[in-house]
Amino acid sequence: MKIKYSFMIMLTLTFMAVLKSADAQNPPQLGKASIEDIVKAMTIEEKATILVGDAWGTRNFNPAGANSKYSTGIVHVPGAPFSTRPIPRLGIPGTGMSDGPAGIRMDISRPGSNKKYYATSFPVGTVMASTWNTELVEYIATEMGREVKEYGLDVVLGPGMNLQRNPLCGRNFEYFSEDPFLNGKIASAIVNGIQSNGVGTSPKHFAGNNSETNRFYSDSRMSQRTLREMILKGFEIMVKESHPWTIMSSYNKLNGDFTQQNYELLTTILRDEWGYDGVVLTDWGYKEGTVEAVKAGNDLMEAGMDFEIERIIEAVQNGSLSIEDIDRNVKNVLNYVVKTQHFKRYEYSDNPDIDANAKLARKEAAEGIILLKNDDNILPLKNMKNAAVFGLNSYKMIAGGAGSGNVNKKYVRNLDEGLAINGIAADTTIADWYKKYIAYQDATNGINPPSMEAVLLGSQVLAEPLAPTGLTEKNMNSNDVAIITIGRNAGEGGDRKIEDGDWYLTAAERDLLQKVTDTYHSVGKKVVVVLNIGGVIETASWKDIPDAILLAWTPGQEVGYTVADILAGKSYPSGKLPMTFPLGYFDLPSSHNFPYNYEGSGTLYLDMGNNSQQGQPVKDVDYVNYEEGIWIGYRYFTTTGKEVSYPFGYGLGYTNFDYENPVVKVAGDGTVTATVTVRNSGSSVGKEAVQLYVTAPTGELTKPEIELRAFAKTKELKPGESQLLTMKVDAYMLASFNESKSQWETAAGEYTAKFGASSSDIRCKAGFKIAKAQAWPVHNVMAPKIPIQEIKIK
Ligand code: BGC
Repeated sequence: MKIKYSFMIMLTLTFMAVLKSADAQNPPQLGKASIEDIVKAMTIEEKATILVGDAWGTRNFNPAGANSKYSTGIVHVPGAPFSTRPIPRLGIPGTGMSDGPAGIRMDISRPGSNKKYYATSFPVGTVMASTWNTELVEYIATEMGREVKEYGLDVVLGPGMNLQRNPLCGRNFEYFSEDPFLNGKIASAIVNGIQSNGVGTSPKHFAGNNSETNRFYSDSRMSQRTLREMILKGFEIMVKESHPWTIMSSYNKLNGDFTQQNYELLTTILRDEWGYDGVVLTDWGYKEGTVEAVKAGNDLMEAGMDFEIERIIEAVQNGSLSIEDIDRNVKNVLNYVVKTQHFKRYEYSDNPDIDANAKLARKEAAEGIILLKNDDNILPLKNMKNAAVFGLNSYKMIAGGAGSGNVNKKYVRNLDEGLAINGIAADTTIADWYKKYIAYQDATNGINPPSMEAVLLGSQVLAEPLAPTGLTEKNMNSNDVAIITIGRNAGEGGDRKIEDGDWYLTAAERDLLQKVTDTYHSVGKKVVVVLNIGGVIETASWKDIPDAILLAWTPGQEVGYTVADILAGKSYPSGKLPMTFPLGYFDLPSSHNFPYNYEGSGTLYLDMGNNSQQGQPVKDVDYVNYEEGIWIGYRYFTTTGKEVSYPFGYGLGYTNFDYENPVVKVAGDGTVTATVTVRNSGSSVGKEAVQLYVTAPTGELTKPEIELRAFAKTKELKPGESQLLTMKVDAYMLASFNESKSQWETAAGEYTAKFGASSSDIRCKAGFKIAKAQAWPVHNVMAPKIPIQEIKIK
């Protein structure tokens, strides 16, 4: 009996060994076997490997990591070196990722090829938001996604969607708005558009990365209400409406913990409450705390270092990390891999139609350009053949922002070129002077090559030179109009500053503006200012000087063509501001808690670490208290009645619109349907972005005077033509966050729907009643460690 028993055991063991070796010889293959079976077949090393990217290991970026011990051999698009690692044994391919929000960031040249690999530089995030047109944004993003697919990439690392809490954040150009609803809607449109090609996105930086100074370590501290209503709301809308393949957690801390390592943020809120089922990947560092990140539900460590793999293996071996946590993350990554074009072995062309996309960018960017001022309807320029074009940036226009949001484009169109194809000649004497100045500066750069950082940051903006005596008067009698471009740029790794040349105009710019205006006005001619800027600047002190101001932002490589098309009337502006232009910087409540003018700011990949002085962390550097609470942008200005330079939602067109017949209906579930008829009452074609603001009964909570709850844009309307716009707001979208009960609440009572041409230009209203209060409880998580003393407005 005994013999028989041990014989049976031997037999079983032999059988298992045979099975195991069969398994080793014929391991399950991704796509053929279930993901469960793949995970079962993976060794700990393989699991850890799939959770860590290998960009640093394969690029000369960091020679120390050049020879990874672990599986590498990624999909290689030079200059777009971000990836997940392959496990060939199990049929798991590597996948490739690249920046960034306004087009693909990759090298133009490739070893062994004479071909140039350009990507289209599309309008930056702020321009997309300024269109207030989600359909158009989705369409542009679809074309961007096609480039991603045809260049053999699987994920584009965007959109950038941190709230524009303060105008000086260095990356605001990548972001959308001061309003979380507009933010969420534009982001959803981009994700849906890009992903319709079967490639992924990575909305970023989740969350609270609202300034760049000390971004690797700074702690963004805020109340739960501010967090839920302002900082997270856009992400919540985007996740629910567009299901991104991946989301990028940010570098910073949020209420005390690194977001990458925060279970409450990445799992409780993002997955459990919002239903997210994609991959969370880290922003591009290699923080201590890899193990905490795995536990928190941060699936993928990017850019990826071998020691991160080792940390994971070690933690499993010493019992500090559970295999369940690892398996959960591995499954998320594998579920992503099977969706990619690399897994599907798509034969990409490496040849997307960038000429067609250039045309698209030229035409569509016009919708995100905002006419701030147009006295005597001087724009569009009528019957004008000769323009005096001033300002260095007219001849060196800025397509997009700097840093990882920079795109290696084929060219950037300048304003004189754009005017020329519209039949307006830029005065050659003036143009020559600027072009020679630029050539000289470029040559100087050639002698002193820019630093690695400058290269990464994209082209630097040259300061406006003092125009030589006589230049402003040159040919003033023969030129029909004067145009001045003012340029600004900013980028990753640094915040902007309250100083001349950034927030303020420089003395040279003011001098130019005044001299040109005096000169041209003295002969009865007009002056137009074009703002080719990445973010808000001070306008109140000078906006009365010129006759017209066109806010072009940085709308992509076709900038000069797009702007000239509008100036000449080939197209028309229909953008509106996605943020407020305040009178003064310090009018903004957030200005009291923002690292403006911080000395160390402005350096890419700045590793400032802990700046404690005598054990005390430094305000606005080591931590930022969001004391403004929900009082960001127009929420603050409309509630306090404080004057601004240009209000949120503002923008003129070449025609006028009347709003008629506002109607609001409330369904049994509390869904509000608001309709309004918009009629083109002017004399040329145009489109109008209508904003639906709601004034809510206070209930238990303090509420802003108005909040944007929906918006819609008309199609192109001819003079006299009208369109009925319908906007829906569900009961949850009306809710405010009550942190004492950890729930979203829509109070019962009387509401007013306000149809606005801007936040301060409400054209008509309609009251409506919510009969029954509703509440949506959530988890009581992410409270600040020390309560934040928020400002009181009401
Ligand atoms: C940026 C990300 C970017 C990544 C890869 C990081 O420094 O914050 O936005 O996607 O680098 O370039």
